[in-house]
Amino acid sequence: MAEIVDEIKSRLSIEDVVSQYVQLKKMGHNLKGLCPFHSEKTPSFVVSPEKQICHCFGCNKGGDIFQFVQELEGVGFVDALRILADRAGVKFEEEKASKKIPKSEKDEYYKAHELACDFFCDQLFNTEDGKKVLDYLHRRGVNDETIKTFKIGFAPDLYDALYPDLLKKGISRTVLLKAGLVSSKTVTSDQIYDKYRARLIFPIFDAFGKVCGFGGRTLKQEQSPKYLNSPENPIYNKSKILYGLSHAKDSIKELDKVVVVEGYFDVVLPYQAGIKNIVATSGTALTEHQIKILKRLTEKVVSCFDTDSAGFEATKRAYFLFQEQGIMLKTLEGLDKKDPADFVRDHGVEFKVLVDRAEDFLTFFVKKLLEKNDFGSPSGRKTIFDELLPCLARLSPVLKDFHIKALSSKLNIEAKYLHDEIANFKLPVNHPAKAILASEDKQKMSVEIVILGVALEYPALFKILAKNLAELDFEDPFKKVYKDLMDQYNSARENFTTWKFDGEFLLEESEKLKVWQLYAEEQYSEFSEVNLELEMYKLIDKVKKDGVARKGKQLIQMIQEAEKNSDRQRQNELIIELNELKRQKLLNP
Ligand code: CTP
Ligand code: MN
Repeated sequence: MAEIVDEIKSRLSIEDVVSQYVQLKKMGHNLKGLCPFHSEKTPSFVVSPEKQICHCFGCNKGGDIFQFVQELEGVGFVDALRILADRAGVKFEEEKASKKIPKSEKDEYYKAHELACDFFCDQLFNTEDGKKVLDYLHRRGVNDETIKTFKIGFAPDLYDALYPDLLKKGISRTVLLKAGLVSSKTVTSDQIYDKYRARLIFPIFDAFGKVCGFGGRTLKQEQSPKYLNSPENPIYNKSKILYGLSHAKDSIKELDKVVVVEGYFDVVLPYQAGIKNIVATSGTALTEHQIKILKRLTEKVVSCFDTDSAGFEATKRAYFLFQEQGIMLKTLEGLDKKDPADFVRDHGVEFKVLVDRAEDFLTFFVKKLLEKNDFGSPSGRKTIFDELLPCLARLSPVLKDFHIKALSSKLNIEAKYLHDEIANFKLPVNHPAKAILASEDKQKMSVEIVILGVALEYPALFKILAKNLAELDFEDPFKKVYKDLMDQYNSARENFTTWKFDGEFLLEESEKLKVWQLYAEEQYSEFSEVNLELEMYKLIDKVKKDGVARKGKQLIQMIQEAEKNSDRQRQNELIIELNELKRQKLLNP
């Protein structure tokens, strides 16, 4: 196992792995981005190529590539290992793997979906009925290459096609039932039959491009529902999946923009036309989680939902949700009442022009409201403001000002009154925007962490610490770390240049220590040597003061204890000690 871990680590760097999910900017030695584990507007998530770790100084999450993937994908170590092995092109030898690694439940689901996907693809290309469906796809504008890219398939009009095939290949009934690929007449019944029949099949991929569900479009007019979608299962969480993301990821990062649409076809056809930075909500309401996933890749989002009123309501809702995450959603106009798929079939790459021309949704919304309502009448105005106030109230001051000025001139109302209206409008108490603001505060690092971090990152400065601080100035676990560092320093003395993490304790704690080090690096990399030394003395004072305060508290407790036990002599001794402390504190303010 350790060999595989090392092999993977040697092939995948932390920056490569993290940048699959988070947009990173180089800052000094390190890279920084918005933390994928919590909401924030200023980046506190740091990736260190040198230390090969990442860490968020806001929520304290992070680690090496394995811990990062575990946390982000919500999987255990073994699954993270598989995911990364796959990415690194490191092969587990099957035998070894099955002996050493417990087969996870998820694996069987992945296998079932992969096999089902292969089955549906085969049916599309290699059966008579499939050829008709292929014609249908061609008529809709989808070519063979795209069909293969998205592994589109066909479920034949039979009750017993997929089921026996997958059973034969070792997938259990339970998994097939839970994956929604088959149904049984009654719960206990043995009569099991294929659920997807006479449907065009869109496999749904997870972020790594593994099939985790299906959407099956009916091919018969009278059949409903129009789309039959997989239920949630151990590998498919609807609120976390965006259709097409694994295909779009690279392009989203490259272009620093994403287009969000509603349907499967709305992804596939633009993708074929070269607009590859596109994902779909596939019929479900956009979730906060999906927004966070996108936000890791880009902050520029253009939505392009269907041009009916449901599509408009969905856009408005999305606008609020994105706004809560600090993203201003844009929308595009000019689709001629078509959905993106049909527009692209008819007009090709013209779609890209519309995407590039997309405008802030709120501006568009205001325009619509003013077209629809008579702002000369009181009731018209009321409608306009009822719709707009919740949007305006949540804007940043600069944007608020922008929209108010525009409205004020259009409606011929003094800007002051608009400001008053907005000021009087209150966000609902439990509005998520408030929670986000609260979580913005950075974690405060304890002074011990800072000082030891500096010592680890800048070993040359340790001699100052060694001269000024004793083991007893620290509490555990810092005391132990400091002792180990002292031992190393003392045994090397003149020859001391750098830390070795080979002592048992330091080795065990090395992960934590790297984070402290990273913190120091982030904090002090811009400091000159002299200033850093001065900072060191400040920190030493602080450690001492904290130590004294701690000791003082302890003494007071002990004095009270002695009093309870009527131990006068002990009490007096302790009081003298306390006074001594007070004196020291005065001497060293
Ligand atoms: N959808 C769904 N269930 C339905 C209808 C729609 O899950 N009963 C989802 C599908 O993901 C679909 C998207 O909502 O792709 C958009 O719906 P719609 O516009 O009706 O379908 P299209 O994908 O545009 O399909 P088509 O162009 O073939 O009508
Ligand atoms: Mn549609």
